[in-house]
Amino acid sequence: MTHMIRHPRRGLARAVALACLLSAGCRSISTPGFEQMTASKHEASVRPGVNEPYLDPNLDVAQWVNRFEVESREIYEARAEIVRAVALRPGHRVADIGAGTGLFLEPFADAVGATGRLYELDISPKFVEHIRQRAARAGLTQVEARQCPEDSVNLPAGSIDIAFICDVYHHFEYPHSTMTSIRNALAPGGEVVLIDFERNPGQSRPWVLEHVRAGRDVFTKEIEAAGFRLLGETTVPGLRESYFLRFRRVEG
Ligand SMILES: C[S@@+](CC[C@H](N)C(=O)[O-])C[C@H]1O[C@@H](n2cnc3c(N)ncnc32)[C@H](O)[C@@H]1O
Repeated sequence: MTHMIRHPRRGLARAVALACLLSAGCRSISTPGFEQMTASKHEASVRPGVNEPYLDPNLDVAQWVNRFEVESREIYEARAEIVRAVALRPGHRVADIGAGTGLFLEPFADAVGATGRLYELDISPKFVEHIRQRAARAGLTQVEARQCPEDSVNLPAGSIDIAFICDVYHHFEYPHSTMTSIRNALAPGGEVVLIDFERNPGQSRPWVLEHVRAGRDVFTKEIEAAGFRLLGETTVPGLRESYFLRFRRVEG
């Protein structure tokens, strides 16, 4: 913050910062000198800039489909087993948080059926529009694709039974605020499914060590601190580099 005080345009920058803090829609301030001053009302970013590629207005969706929906990606290869392990039922209301290109769109929509609800949420407007169009083309009326801010899923209280967070938790810049919003969105007894990378110094690939800020123990503590209890781990065939954990909302 010291360099911020010395910035020659500090008056203007402060005015911008104040306006953004007062506006619920504005989540980050890009005024020079304010790069790290994020505008989540409750916490500082744990990983500034981690989502920049997804927020790029020129994001090429096809390029990301080629990265996310390829056999060489463990999550893609194991997708059918993951869907089985999530164990959705007709009528369930599920939020796929950080849905990306919509890898789980059709199988989740099928699983919850016409009486269920599938919220496909992402901070990336391009991904959301892509999923919206795919769902419309496929006539999936139970699907709602929504853009959410970086610190909240913005779903009404008690509106979902399951929150699915696959390869996304380590992208949450405001994990406590986001998990608190997920807890509020879950109905009593609601559950979170978390899939993320094993991160073990000395064992994990250098890319994982660099890209994923912490391992399962830290993430579990953070999620529990937001009002959840770890139920346990599910072994999913095909997942070698990732774990699958289930949490339940703690009542009271
Ligand atoms: C590595 S991709 C994973 C996409 C998808 N879950 C999959 O496994 O194919 C991470 C996604 O999380 C989204 N994301 C990051 N932070 C988010 C947040 N706070 N709320 C919702 N989505 C977020 C990104 O925009 C991106 O689409």
